[in-house]
Formats: sequence, C-alpha cells, structure tokens
Amino acid sequence: MDPDAVKQFSFAVWSYKMGEQVSLMIHLGDRLGLYRAMSGAGPMTSAELAAATETDERFVREWLLGQAAAKLITRTDDGSFELSDVQAAVLADEEDSISFAAGAFRGGTDPAGVDALIDSFRTGIGVTYEQQGTAAAAGLARMTGPWSRLALTSVILPALDGVVDKLEAGATVIDVGCGAGVTAATIAEAFPNSHCIGYDPSTVAIELASERAAEAGLTNAEFINAPADALPPDSGADLVLCFDCLHDMPRPDRSLEAIRSALAADGTLLIKDIRSTGDFNKDRRNPLLAMFYGFSVASCLQSARSEAGGMGLGTLGLYPERMKELVTEAGFGSFVRHDLDDAANLYYEVRVA
Ligand SMILES: C[S@@+](CC[C@H](N)C(=O)[O-])C[C@H]1O[C@@H](n2cnc3c(N)ncnc32)[C@H](O)[C@@H]1O
Repeated sequence: MDPDAVKQFSFAVWSYKMGEQVSLMIHLGDRLGLYRAMSGAGPMTSAELAAATETDERFVREWLLGQAAAKLITRTDDGSFELSDVQAAVLADEEDSISFAAGAFRGGTDPAGVDALIDSFRTGIGVTYEQQGTAAAAGLARMTGPWSRLALTSVILPALDGVVDKLEAGATVIDVGCGAGVTAATIAEAFPNSHCIGYDPSTVAIELASERAAEAGLTNAEFINAPADALPPDSGADLVLCFDCLHDMPRPDRSLEAIRSALAADGTLLIKDIRSTGDFNKDRRNPLLAMFYGFSVASCLQSARSEAGGMGLGTLGLYPERMKELVTEAGFGSFVRHDLDDAANLYYEVRVA
C-alpha cells in the first residue's frame, strides 16, 4: 500500500468528521444567537459577544476560534472576531436573506433516529416524516423556508402562465406535502382573496403548519392531515403545489393521479423537485452531491420506502425525463420545465391540457 495514498484518503475521511463537528458548532451559534449578535456589530471580542448573548466568555472564545478556523467568521489582527455581511447573509439573517442556511443545522441526529435507519436497511421499510419527529419537520421548514418565503411571490409564481392574476382575483390553492406550512402561509398572506389548503400525512408537520397560520392570523389557510392520494376529486383547484415532496411519496404515480382529479380543467400543477440529471456521472458536477445522497438515505428514501411496494425514488430520483414520464402517465398533457436560478431545485409547470 502507498502510505501517501493512505494519508490522503485518511484526510478525506477526517474532513467529514470535521464537517460533523463544525455542523454542531453552527447549530450552537444559531441557537444561542451568537451569529445574530455579531451581525452588523463590527469586530467584537469574546467578552463583548458573551455579554451581548448572556453566555460564558470561555466557551464563547473557544467557539469563536473554531469558527475562525473553519473560515466561517474572520479573526482580525488584534484578536477580535467579525461576521462580514456575506457571512451574516448565510448565518444570521433568517428574515430577509434568501441564502440563510444556519437553520438547516439541527445539532445531529438523535440515537433513536439512527437506530431506525439501521432497522430500515434490514427490513427494507423506511421511516415516515412523521416518525422523524417534530424537530425534523421544524428543521426542514427552516432549511427550505427562506427560499420558499422570499422567492415564491417574486420569482416562482410570476414565471407561470396566468397564475398570479388568478391568485389576485381569488383562487383555490392546494399545497400537497405542505410540511410545516411555510409555502401555504406565504401564499395565503400574499393573496388574501385566495384560499390555501395544505395536505400532509405527517401529524407533527400539520400541527406546526396550523400553529404558523394561527400566529400569522391567517383565516384563508387551513391544513388537513392526509396524503396526496386522499385529495378530494373534483376539488376544482386552480393551483396545486408539490414542493420538494413528490420524490418522498411512496407512490408518486398514484399521488399525481389524485392531483389531476383535484385540479380544475384549466388549473396548474407546480412541482418543485431536486435538480438532478438521471446520470450519476453528470450529477457529480454538483459539489454537494454526497450531501444529497445523505438526505436521501436518512430522510427522502426512508419516506418513499415507508410502505411495502413504495417506488423509492430517493432525493435525486425525479430528474426531468422521469418527471415527464410520470406526469404524462398520470394524464397531464402539458409540461414546462423552469430553471429559476435555484441551485438545488428545478420547477415544472404542468397542466391537464
Ligand atoms: C421534504 S418535506 C417538504 C415539505 C414542504 N413542502 C417544503 O417545501 O418544505 C416532504 C413532505 O412530504 C410529505 N409526504 C410524504 N409522503 C406524502 C404523501 N404520500 N402525500 C403527501 N405528502 C407526503 C412529508 O410528510 C413531508 O412533510
């Protein structure tokens, strides 16, 4: 064996361990408000940051040094620490930054969750989103929320033919696989004449979605604890959304048939699904590809194989050709793909005719 090759490979493996540790540190920074306190504050000492966040200076100092080592914050020549505007956009500004990412860091997977993954490898039956728990549903909402909230009305809906006009006039909207309700609440808030109904088989997600709508005082959003297959046929929906969830469904073919029946004849189905090509070698151009396979094994494929006979598409399984096949088989006649400058997803505008 070439000792240099072993060293090099060892380094690659330990880099993932470093990623695990840095992920935990990002979670601590988010949860303790450390990034938020540094945002816009200029250079700060560890004592100043500890005082601003009511935390212990010694722990904060160690965290700051680690963050500087990870190049997530900057250490100035005089030993202070600073969060630049770019760093704040990704680590601190959840409200207004489309690039906010710190909410995706949940501080690790609980040991019972890991045991459930081990079981799934042995039984072939995966864990549903509901079984992944409330923290997972809330974490997902924070991961996809900034883009959903900020790009939905400014970028995504305006790309569709005639949809914004209908929403302004008053439309029936169904958000299938709505999770914790960020998208449905955003539409209900932006289009008060429209009525938005979120469906999700996860009880914990529906509880979070209902709380979100109640807190925002939305009277035109409601949430129903049911899968896509249970959509009432002939609902006459003007717009059905299927955001980052079709590949999670055990039988997306049946779900699409139910969606088609629930759509008005001139309605629009808007699908957001993970950007992939169907060719592993081409997908390798994505520098974060291994992370997507991790999401798949731990979450998406789990849900897609949570029933016997589940198709098990997985996170990267709904590439454009496969999507077109599925929607065509479900009886849709028109299919337009939109590339909306979203690094992780593609969008599909689908109609019955
Ligand atoms: C990754 S989350 C996406 C949630 C939300 N749409 C978003 O964009 O954040 C996938 C969601 O699909 C839901 N799901 C799984 N199987 C489903 C089914 N058969 N019908 C409807 N939703 C389903 C899960 O419960 C989960 O909330």
